[in-house]
Amino acid sequence: MHEKLDDLANQFSQIAHHYDDKHDDEEKPVYNACASLVIDHTGPDPDDVVLDLGTGTGLVALALAEDANYVVGRDISDGMIEQARSKADDSGIENVEFGSGEFRDLQYDGDVDIVVSNFALHHLPDKEKREAIEVIAGLGPRRFVLGDTMFFGSSDPEESLFGHEVNVETVGMLVNALTDAGFVVTAVERVHEQVGVLVAEQSNEGPVHSPQEDQ
Ligand SMILES: C[S@@+](CC[C@H](N)C(=O)[O-])C[C@H]1O[C@@H](n2cnc3c(N)ncnc32)[C@H](O)[C@@H]1O
Repeated sequence: MHEKLDDLANQFSQIAHHYDDKHDDEEKPVYNACASLVIDHTGPDPDDVVLDLGTGTGLVALALAEDANYVVGRDISDGMIEQARSKADDSGIENVEFGSGEFRDLQYDGDVDIVVSNFALHHLPDKEKREAIEVIAGLGPRRFVLGDTMFFGSSDPEESLFGHEVNVETVGMLVNALTDAGFVVTAVERVHEQVGVLVAEQSNEGPVHSPQEDQ
C-alpha cells in the first residue's frame, strides 16, 4: 500500500474501537440515514453475493448479511476489520467475511452480484475514484450502490459537514464517472446538501469511450 493509504489505514485503526460512537449529534442522523438508504437500495436476493468496499466496522455488511447469501467486506485498516469481525462473532453472523483490500486492489476474485460502499470512496482523489469505479464495473455486478459525501449544491460550502480531510465531488462528476464505466444511474437520493446515495445498474451497452480513445 502506498504511504498515504498506509497513514489513512493507521488513522482508522487508532479510532476503530470507538468508531461506531464517533459521530456527533449533527453528523449521526445524516450518517445513519445514508447507511439505511444504501442498505434499502442494495436489497439483495437470497442467493446474492455482496461486496462492501471500505466496510469499516461492518455497519452495512452486517445489516446486508441478513438477506444476502454471502457478504464480503474489504478495508485497508486492520483495526476496523478486527472490529467488524468481532461484531460478526458477537452477533453469530456466519455468512460474512472481512479482510484487507483496497478499492483498486480488492484481494477478492470470486463472483459478485452487488457492490456497495458507504462513506469510503471520498478518501480517494478524483482520478483515483474513477479508477476505483472502473475496477468495480470490471467485476460485472448487476448493481453498485454508493453512499458518500457528494455536493448537491455549491462545491465550496461554507461549512463542511464531515469537517475532516475529504475529497468531495459533485453529484454530476460521480454520475459521469459511473456512466463512463458502463453503469446506468437509476436513482439519486439526496440525504443532505453534502451527502447522497447513487444507485447504478449494469448497462447492456458497456463503457462509454470518447472518440479520441477510438482513434
Ligand atoms: C468513514 S469509514 C466508513 C466505514 C463504513 N463503510 C461505514 O459506513 O460505517 C471509511 C472506511 O473506508 C476505509 N478506506 C479508506 N480508503 C480506502 C481505500 N482506498 N480502500 C478501501 N478502504 C478504504 C477506511 O479504512 C474506513 O474503514
